[in-house]
Amino acid sequence: MNSLALDTACSSIEGVTLDSVAANFGTPCYVYSRAALTAAYAGYRDALAAQGLLERSLICYAVKANSNLAILNVFARLGAGFDIVSGGEMARVLAAGGNPAKIVFSGVGKSAAEMRAALEAGIHCFNVESANELELLNSVALELGHRAPVSFRVNPDVDPKTHPYISTGLKSSKFGVAFTDAPALYRRAASLPGITVKGIDCHIGSQLLDPAPAAEATDKLLDLVDRLAADGIVLEHIDVGGGMGITYRADEPAPAAADYLAPMLSRLVKRTEKLIFEPGRSLVGNAGLLLTRVMTLKPGEEKHFAVVDAAMNDLMRPALYDAWHEIEKVGSGDTAATAQTWEIVGPICESGDFLGHDRELALAQGDLLAIKSAGAYGMAMASNYNTRPRAAEVMIDGDQVHLIRRRETVSELFALESALP
Ligand code: LLP
Repeated sequence: MNSLALDTACSSIEGVTLDSVAANFGTPCYVYSRAALTAAYAGYRDALAAQGLLERSLICYAVKANSNLAILNVFARLGAGFDIVSGGEMARVLAAGGNPAKIVFSGVGKSAAEMRAALEAGIHCFNVESANELELLNSVALELGHRAPVSFRVNPDVDPKTHPYISTGLKSSKFGVAFTDAPALYRRAASLPGITVKGIDCHIGSQLLDPAPAAEATDKLLDLVDRLAADGIVLEHIDVGGGMGITYRADEPAPAAADYLAPMLSRLVKRTEKLIFEPGRSLVGNAGLLLTRVMTLKPGEEKHFAVVDAAMNDLMRPALYDAWHEIEKVGSGDTAATAQTWEIVGPICESGDFLGHDRELALAQGDLLAIKSAGAYGMAMASNYNTRPRAAEVMIDGDQVHLIRRRETVSELFALESALP
């Protein structure tokens, strides 16, 4: 599903050539496809509809994966809700036309100011992660004369079998409240005048390819929901988090949304609670690529380096997680070049500044490359390291190209700084 509608020569998306994007907007440049975003969302919607679950489900796009206003706006128009983790993300959702009543607020450290803003906006639910957070939220809500809708993020202690940095549901994790503590926390929440108990949530990790851990977490969650009900605490909704993985490389294919969700949905279909999903990567990851140009070729004694104009500040995933992104030459390039093994590296002064190791490509200086599956946690995690302006972002919509974030200028990068008097 949701893979970018690239033609076989990797030269165009929908009706637009990548050469023309590079010529008009420069490189490095993130390129997204509206059709691919829409198809990925439809993957979830159709999977839910097939089980008769659509009416009582809310798909809350996890904003952290890619928070560009145009992306948020595409999902808002499709009727999505949003999963946010900061006041900043909430401001983006509202600016993009998102419905505050469809926002869930996750995260292990919410400030009183963020709580206040979210209460005033009228969000759907706070996903509370600790006893202290519950008390603070209660007092902020009382100050405003509101009642805060609350769910607890419980930690089901399930191994999601993914990269340790993106595993979040183990006992050792900083996230969520322990399963054993949950009943007492719910009783406390039910007794607080500034709190309304709404639901329960969990999120066990990201880039999950095997549906079994999510199904196991769902079983644990449902068991807890039933025990709470027996205790007189009846929940309105169950939020199963995000985490569905995508295909980064052909030899590790991700299941289609319907197949990944099937074991989980077969458990939820028997329930009556409303359902919330928080997908991030699976909605945007394969709807975007990073376009970059080969600056120079530097054959070496042991390795041959292709220095490109994108770097770890633009796409941090390879450096941070040793993540693998497919890299393809755009169009046919210089046909005289012969294929050999290249290290694809950026211009940053760090050995960790690589985008791909050992890639077999026929490269010439000036070639355009597409770094694929870069729509999620790409631009969202970009920085200005080495005083590099962040890349431009464009969205292709049929035969139209829209600049959705212009490239930063160098002077903007130090505009907030000042020398001593
Ligand atoms: N809900 C919560 C509470 C989360 O913490 C996350 C992601 C999501 C939903 C969305 O998960 P997704 O569907 O995208 O897997 N930077 C890392 C990924 C970090 C994920 C953090 N939490 C990467 O580039 O792989």
